[in-house]
Formats: sequence, C-alpha cells, structure tokens
Amino acid sequence: MHANNVLDDPSRALAIDRSRMRDLLEGFPHHLEGGWGLGEDVEIPPFERLLICGMGGSAIGGDFLRAYLQQKGFHKPLEVVRGYRLPPLGDAAERTLVYALSYSGNTEETLACFEDAGRRGCPRIAITSGGRLAQLAHQQKVPVIEIPGGMPPRTALGYLLAPLLRSLLPALRRSQREAIEREFAETVGTLRSLSPLYAEEPEAENPAKRQARALFQKIPIIYGSAITEPIARRWKCQINENAKQPAYWDVLPELHHNEIVGWEWESPLAERFVYVLLRDPETEEHPQIQRRFRITRALLEERGRTVLEVRPPDETQGLLARLLSLSYLGDWVSYYLALLNGVDPTPVELIEAMKRRLAEG
Ligand code: F6R
Repeated sequence: MHANNVLDDPSRALAIDRSRMRDLLEGFPHHLEGGWGLGEDVEIPPFERLLICGMGGSAIGGDFLRAYLQQKGFHKPLEVVRGYRLPPLGDAAERTLVYALSYSGNTEETLACFEDAGRRGCPRIAITSGGRLAQLAHQQKVPVIEIPGGMPPRTALGYLLAPLLRSLLPALRRSQREAIEREFAETVGTLRSLSPLYAEEPEAENPAKRQARALFQKIPIIYGSAITEPIARRWKCQINENAKQPAYWDVLPELHHNEIVGWEWESPLAERFVYVLLRDPETEEHPQIQRRFRITRALLEERGRTVLEVRPPDETQGLLARLLSLSYLGDWVSYYLALLNGVDPTPVELIEAMKRRLAEG
C-alpha cells in the first residue's frame, strides 16, 4: 500500500534507528522479569503513607504503580511527587516511606526530594542505575535497588516499575500478594507474545504501525480514564521523546468540564488533531465513563475530527496485563512514528540542553 514503506523495511528502519531503540523495546518483557528479581531482597519498614519521587520516564513507573495498586485494594495514601519538595507531612514523616526513582541518578528534582526526605526523617529507598543518587544513598546507608545502566530512562520502565512493585509486596495482605504475583507472571507472558506482533508484522497486520501512520503529520490528543489515565500520559511522553513531535493528554471525566469547549475551535489547524481514546474493556469501565467515551467520539466526529479508539488486545485479561500492554503498544506507536518522521528515536537533545543550562547556573 505504501511503496518503499520504511515501517516494513528493516534496513531502512535501522538506518534511522541508529541507536537501536528497537532492541530495547523488544526487551521490555525481559526487563520486567529481571526488575522483579532485583526488588526481592529489599526490606521495607512499616509505613502509613507512600511517596514516589521522580521525573519523566522514571516518574511514570510511580504513576503505573499507583493506578494498579489502587485498583487492587491498596488503601494507604500513595502520591507521585514530581518536583523539588515533598508535600507537608505533619508529624507523620517517620511513617512516610519515600522512594526516589531516577534511572540516571542525576536528576536534580529527585535528588532534592531524596535529601528533603532525609532531613525530615522519612525512611527511604532509592531505585537507580547509579549516578549521584546511588552515591548519596550508599553514603547515607539508604537501601538501593541498583538496576542495569546504559539505557534511555524511558525504555527502562520494566526495571523501574517491577522492583518497585515487588519490594512493596510484604506490605500487602497475603491474598493480594498472591494475586499480584500471579498477574505479574501472566503479564510477562502476554507481553512476550505481543512483542513479535508489534516488532515484526507488516503494516497491514500490525496495530502499532497502523496507528503510527494515522498520527503521522498530526497532533495527537490522547484521552484516558481510570487505569488508562497514566497510559495516556505515557503515550504523550513517548511520542514527544521518541518521535520529536508535540502531543497532549487529558483525562475523562474532568476534560468534559473544560477541554471539551476547545473542540469548538474552527481553524484549519484543528484538522491536524487526531483524538486517541484509550479504552479499557467495557466490562471494566464505569458505565458512565463508557457513555462519556461514546458521546466524546460522537461530538468530535460531528465536528469533522478524526478519532482513534484503542483498547488492550483481546487476549489481555488481568489488570496489569491490560495496563502494560496498552502502554507497550504506545511505545511501539511512538517508535514507528519516529521512523516515519525520519528521526532517531533515542536522542533527546532538548532534555539534555535544559539540564546542561541549569547546571551552568
Ligand atoms: C529520557 C526520559 C526523561 C528522563 C527524565 C529524568 O529517556 O525519559 O524523561 O526520565 O529526564 O531522568 P531520570 O529518569 O534519569 O531521573
């Protein structure tokens, strides 16, 4: 259908993907498995509140953990902190467990939170491949889960999320623990079976390639709800960083109270938007959210907008498998979009430039 299709031509694809992100994407199920083992030996203290501090590709592991554990009946407050300071803790600092997640170990916001937590007397755990965070944690006798280095942080989701989840199992009830262990094993199996579909099938059979094509030269606006909320953020960030393209995300039902009015905009630019609705299977969505998605689609299409609806593949049953397979699909979509854009998915020059300029003072 597309002559000389870069998506279906491995040698042309690898000429663009010079840093070989493809291998890392294919390795995701393996990273999850390896990461799980790394979280086994950490001892966590008793706690009443959980803070996960991180930025970008590291923080998203915290978002996924939060979405997942909340649905699994974990009732302790759990927040993801993106910034330089922890929220007020009152007199509960000693019962607030703080995870510092930084793949590189050198992200200044996460380092500031780590130090802030130390000053306030919070128990801490670091997850990192090294850098300043590993150094400080060793000096201050804070447990460190050391994960393999040398990857772009956003491709290390498996190594960031799995040990985080595994290390928290002792804080859960036995029945919850067993259910999570089972789901985790099933999820790795599901991702292993999806990997060749996304990596190897030609465009006609490959949902990731087809969706990338639909987003080429467009501005993706990605909507999620409940479990698909952090996935919408992940898709957006992956499209930004891998495809070097603007993308935005929002969440139902909140967007029906503000964002929705922007759909009225009459401008040739509005034709560039493609709305991606990230759905869970109907049996899992609140009935009103199902209705809201249906009406969202109708309102957009009545205004001539393009809408793509994306669901986890049929074979994904458990919550974790649905969460991670839909996120994995987005990783591949952003990868193929990078190929269509003719850009190496790996370098993120502007992120580095920002960090350098900040360091210059
Ligand atoms: C780069 C990426 C970024 C980083 C972020 C924080 O691949 O995804 O969003 O994750 O700049 O850096 P780390 O993860 O090293 O703390």
